[in-house]
Amino acid sequence: MPPLKPPPDRLYGRQRTHALRPRQARLLAETLPRMRFASPSDPWSAFAAPPARLWLEVGFGGGEHARTLAANHTDVGLIACEVFDQGLCSLLAALVTEGAEATGDLPGNLRIWDDDARTLLRTLPEACLDRLFLMFPDPWPKARHAKRRFVHPDIVALAASRMKPGAEWRAASDDPGYQAWVTEIMGAQSLFRMHPAAPSRPDGWPPTRYEAKAHAAGRTPLYWVFSRL
Ligand SMILES: C[S@@+](CC[C@H](N)C(=O)[O-])C[C@H]1O[C@@H](n2cnc3c(N)ncnc32)[C@H](O)[C@@H]1O
Repeated sequence: MPPLKPPPDRLYGRQRTHALRPRQARLLAETLPRMRFASPSDPWSAFAAPPARLWLEVGFGGGEHARTLAANHTDVGLIACEVFDQGLCSLLAALVTEGAEATGDLPGNLRIWDDDARTLLRTLPEACLDRLFLMFPDPWPKARHAKRRFVHPDIVALAASRMKPGAEWRAASDDPGYQAWVTEIMGAQSLFRMHPAAPSRPDGWPPTRYEAKAHAAGRTPLYWVFSRL
């Protein structure tokens, strides 16, 4: 494979596709600031109580996976990243009822980073993460867009530097091109042990919206675990 261009600093994904409805505007104006992750240099202090473990999800989409993880693992502090307003609103809407955007109770162990996950990774302390989730990332199928893929040698090295020894990176994709790409890129690095890909979702992994779409379209996702060496 020819050397890959470094990942671009700017985001290429969509961030807003249409005007916000009033409820969505309130969620972003009133609820998001109460959940926004704002302490990258001391991530444990961002939560209601300092968590025993720190997990990070990249690109949570509608947020069902992040919400389930946070509810099922109350000793974990989960930082959930998403740049797409509709996704942010989906997660926030599931957390607070209408009318309670500014006051409703929110999970103390879930915080939202509403910017590029790569920027956050660069500012987190070294070896702080116990787990990383990358569920159904944008595949960027064109070869000339390969540098935009999250699974990129530079980002793999960045993620590795922020993960503890033994920490687990969980990833999934339904895109055959991206599946081959992950196999190639992760097979060529020595920062993570790559376990054989699973053709069905392992126990304890919450489902995601994109996974449901993949199954409905007849595609077969693959699920990976990479252990930080
Ligand atoms: C294909 S969707 C999958 C969403 C979700 N994980 C699921 O499985 O349903 C990928 C998501 O990643 C988000 N995303 C892409 N690049 C990102 C980045 N650098 N930082 C944070 N979010 C990102 C996109 O906005 C999009 O919502």
